[in-house]
Amino acid sequence: MERTFVMVKPDGVKRGLIGSIVTRFEQKGFLLIAMKLMSIDRTLAERHYGEHREKPFFGELVDFLTSGQVCAMVWEGPNAIANARGLIGSTNPAEASPGTIRADFALDISSNIVHGSDSLESAQREIGLFFDGAQPPGLLFRAASDGASITTAH
Ligand code: GTP
Ligand code: MG
Repeated sequence: MERTFVMVKPDGVKRGLIGSIVTRFEQKGFLLIAMKLMSIDRTLAERHYGEHREKPFFGELVDFLTSGQVCAMVWEGPNAIANARGLIGSTNPAEASPGTIRADFALDISSNIVHGSDSLESAQREIGLFFDGAQPPGLLFRAASDGASITTAH
């Protein structure tokens, strides 16, 4: 079963939207595998969004991601990566379809509430960045049902 990395960004945490976002993923039928509230340093933010390093908005993006706590999650389900992106909606909330998280909760492209991995490679890389094997077991919300590592996509 596929897994994806989803993160409530600092604007979503500050506005008290973790519960609403988790509810949407649960209602859709995804299984919550791991979840933690954490701060991100600039090094982790720059690695997470490394593909955008040359973009004009990169500095602003890193400033934003490090401006407060985030809620990092791993969700599992059929076609989890594409299905999660469907729930999240288009990058620009102004262009997102009604009923998606970004359309319903956000106005601005630079504060768009939630992140979702965009490919299998990104999902594996991002899960590894945020939930590496060195984490104490207590931080993991749910053990993998088959005993596999949290970082293993299967
Ligand atoms: P993430 O799930 O956060 O990765 O968003 P995405 O996959 O929908 O979009 P993308 O990876 O292309 O961009 C990453 C983030 O950079 C977006 O979520 C936006 O917050 C920000 N971003 C993307 N394009 C622009 C832009 O043209 N201007 C500004 N200011 N921010 C942008
Ligand atoms: Mg992206």
